[in-house]
Amino acid sequence: MESDPFSAQVTISLSVNGNEEHFHGDARTTVLDLLREVFGLTGTKKGCNRGECGACTLLVDGARVNACMMLAASADGRVVTTIEGLATGDELHPVQRAFIDHDAFQCGFCTAGQIMSAVGCIREGRTTSDEEIREWMSGNICRCSAYPQIAAAVAAAAKETV
Ligand code: FES
Ligand code: FES
Repeated sequence: MESDPFSAQVTISLSVNGNEEHFHGDARTTVLDLLREVFGLTGTKKGCNRGECGACTLLVDGARVNACMMLAASADGRVVTTIEGLATGDELHPVQRAFIDHDAFQCGFCTAGQIMSAVGCIREGRTTSDEEIREWMSGNICRCSAYPQIAAAVAAAAKETV
């Protein structure tokens, strides 16, 4: 009897926001679906689900990743940080604070991805000018067009965190 090509399973372990997590299930599961549907971490948003909008941006081993484009199996043994893991207790991360201070969101759907991408952008040192920030944040689409405020928030947070 032929094996079912859709029945492949994976077993993985990963760190999510400092917690050791485990998953056994469908090998086609993306990191985005693993977080939202298995672990209940719905802060990471699903927009296009095909790598075009940046709504699902999070950090894997400190680097920016579109979670909809990464299989959970590829996250085995790695360190994932989502918007839920950014604050320290009640104290917001400087980028979160800057987004509030600069009124950098309207509907808020893109905001978690924008903030996670901004954290990566600042760590990469891509924040020396407004043009550079806009270029290196260009994978994050905002349908409300809050770009001037987003760029201002990233610039302000970059000054604070460097
Ligand atoms: S939901 Fe992942 S890039 Fe749009
Ligand atoms: S604030 Fe609405 S999509 Fe960006």
